[in-house]
Amino acid sequence: MKSFYITTPIYYVNDVPHIGHAYTTIAADVMARWKRMEGYDVLFCTGTDEHGQKINRAAEKLGLHPKELADRVVENFKSLWVKLNISNDDFIRTTEERHKRVVQEAFKRMIESGDIYKGVYEGWYCVFCESFWSESQLIPERRCPDCGREVEMVREETYFFRLSKYQDRLLKHMEENPDCVKPESRFNEVYSFIRMGLKDISVTRTTVKWGIPFPLDPSHVIYVWFDALINYLTVAGFTQDEEKFNKYWPVVHHLVGKDILRFHAVIWPAMLMSLGVNPPKMVFAHGWWTVEGEKMSKSKGNVVDPNEVVDKYGVDAFRYFLLREVPFGLDGDFSRDAFINRVNGELADNFGNLLNRTLVMVEKFFGGVVPEPMEEEAVDREIASLALETFRKAKEYMDEFGFDKALREILALSSRLNKYVDETSPWALAREGRKGRLSSVIYTVLEGLRFLTVMLTPFIPKSGERAWTMLGLEGKPEDHGFSSLVWGKFPVGIRVKPGEVLFPRIEVKTEVKREEMKVESFVSIDEFRKMDLRIAKVLSAERVPKTDKLLKLEIDIGDERRTIVAGIAEVYSPEELIGKEVVVIANLEPAKIKGIVSQGMLLAAIDRDGKPVILRPERDVDPGSKVT
Ligand code: MSP
Repeated sequence: MKSFYITTPIYYVNDVPHIGHAYTTIAADVMARWKRMEGYDVLFCTGTDEHGQKINRAAEKLGLHPKELADRVVENFKSLWVKLNISNDDFIRTTEERHKRVVQEAFKRMIESGDIYKGVYEGWYCVFCESFWSESQLIPERRCPDCGREVEMVREETYFFRLSKYQDRLLKHMEENPDCVKPESRFNEVYSFIRMGLKDISVTRTTVKWGIPFPLDPSHVIYVWFDALINYLTVAGFTQDEEKFNKYWPVVHHLVGKDILRFHAVIWPAMLMSLGVNPPKMVFAHGWWTVEGEKMSKSKGNVVDPNEVVDKYGVDAFRYFLLREVPFGLDGDFSRDAFINRVNGELADNFGNLLNRTLVMVEKFFGGVVPEPMEEEAVDREIASLALETFRKAKEYMDEFGFDKALREILALSSRLNKYVDETSPWALAREGRKGRLSSVIYTVLEGLRFLTVMLTPFIPKSGERAWTMLGLEGKPEDHGFSSLVWGKFPVGIRVKPGEVLFPRIEVKTEVKREEMKVESFVSIDEFRKMDLRIAKVLSAERVPKTDKLLKLEIDIGDERRTIVAGIAEVYSPEELIGKEVVVIANLEPAKIKGIVSQGMLLAAIDRDGKPVILRPERDVDPGSKVT
């Protein structure tokens, strides 16, 4: 059996997961599921990076031991992966014993290769990125070129790794393996970076205590990135399970964000060369998400919590959007409008609607039983070849991590099927009593839906499974795999099982209007109902002495008489108000105005000149009538 190994970065446990973490993990999950359905033996792993200064500081701030912090935060990641339907085969934490063993063993081997030597490191360090920088690499004001935060001066005894020794071998490896870094633009970037010359790098720290002890010298701990990268070996069984390692290592694919590409495409392959192990088959660097056009940051308060999106719109809508919206490798923007458009346009109106209308027709025309196709026409064969061609293209795109293009092809098949239904008009066929032709049309759409469901399942596993069940098919689409994509295999005579709509449309009206309303803060309907707004009849009115604006009104609110003071004297004379009906808020807290207790407030609009215009009912109503 062919094997396939795919990894995500292991995530720092100083913070809760956000859309960036979810993105790589979902992409890796989709690929793992796709490969399993292709028949590969897949190892898919994710995990957490728990050592280093960053975690140590975050824990200190909270008054916790770093391991305590890790134990708490790791649960956020694990539960999110369950919620996102992530099918990882392993989850590694760098504080686990199995990892410590492999890291120490790996270091022993690098030492034996003569690649580790003692020296002194003096330079800058960004704790946020856990990265060393030389003076010339910094951006103005001594800030980290990657994240823009202030860096710290470090001077300490350290052990170095002879990265420089591997410069030529790295270049040669890249020349011979043009797919080892993807996309191509990133390959070129990494290649030029190596050609500019590599310096040896520090791999141990003495000023940091939270890490794996360095085997040669226990006063040093291993630099967190060297510890972290080795996780990929630990999971594959390096030095512990030779068979597993030989099966998966040659086919390892690392998915990473563009910001951590150098660690994965320069330092990591050199470390592996030093260990006598092949460099990764592929490192794929994806882009970054902005949110509504802005960089995501805690200070802006625009960090997208995947949990919230899933609770609101469902897990599959989220998974689908992330992979459909942006070509893997490019930056993208997470905006509410784009999200709603994709989900409504492609999942609800296209695929979901096709499933729904087809099941309704099977019920209506064939009592819910899948008919045998009796009267084939050329267009049915055209649909069949389009379905097969769609899978061929989708597979080709998936081979190069073109998730968006694969989905585009799949959805195009769904659109074609919707059009096919419109063109063949099953309702008319039924009316005309053309049962034979009707059976072929319905069968063709059902078969198309089976193809679509199988191909979409890696992307939207939960909905794929639901669609499968609604189609009346046995088991799960995963179990059938892509080898089941042979046209004409939809079992005749089975019963479909229509269920709830697969993807309800997201109601754009409420969603978007809220945004457009320019409201500072909303009141709930319950809050509004607390206000007792009523129609009142003005019984008498007089000016409040020594004021220009105030009138004292006696009003009838049905079961009671009240006195209120209103600031309308500049515009209204007392006489013109008497006998008129106005709107008041009757349960406003009484207030004393110029010595008069006002037991309510009259409502008025403010005109262009800032003058009050009182509100009145359009027709006569009884005093005391409620205003709602
Ligand atoms: N612990 C290291 C990785 C070690 S792998 C041996 C690390 N962890 S992290 O928690 O900071 O995770 C970072 C991952 O999230 C990176 O792949 C990064 O590119 C990704 N993202 C962080 N913000 C992101 C966006 N706004 N958009 C997309 N991905 C982003 O680095």
